[in-house]
Amino acid sequence: MTKPQIWIASFLALFILLFILQRVTKEEEKFMPIPTENLTNQPSKENFSAQDLIANFGCTNCHGIDLEGTKLGPELKDISKNFGRGELITYLRNPGSFMGSERFQKYREQYPSVIMPNFGNKDVKDLGKIADYLLAR
Ligand code: HEC
Repeated sequence: MTKPQIWIASFLALFILLFILQRVTKEEEKFMPIPTENLTNQPSKENFSAQDLIANFGCTNCHGIDLEGTKLGPELKDISKNFGRGELITYLRNPGSFMGSERFQKYREQYPSVIMPNFGNKDVKDLGKIADYLLAR
């Protein structure tokens, strides 16, 4: 092969590699379970149920499909014993600010390598819907 041919061949290889990489990262974005019936005719999140939102935001990854708890997070029950509605929304937006209490210190020991992510970037209305659902369980 001549020098220009080698250049062309290596550019081609680079393009193919970038193309494959792009496909792979696209696959990952699709990973979040979004209920299809809501996607097809109702693009707005307004129509998502609290359970859809909980699955969508990844809560079930750590708290379990039925919120029964996993190695990564506690069971979500009796939430209304510890939180009012506003407080729970504040918690979801910034879990770190609640770390002082005894209950959370225990959680820190139980789940040393996992932290509850903050959901401050989510629509407060969606968080309110989740809060209502969790408080009513
Ligand atoms: C990466 C794992 C992870 C994800 C994702 C996650 N959590 Fe958590 N969650 C935890 C852990 C761990 C705790 C225990 C407190 C702590 O250590 O921060 C916790 C604590 C909580 C608590 C307090 C429980 C109590 O007994 O007071 C609530 C409520 C809660 N999570 C709701 C949610 C909701 C709703 C979502 C989704 C919007 C969610 N979590 C997503 C890991 C997670």
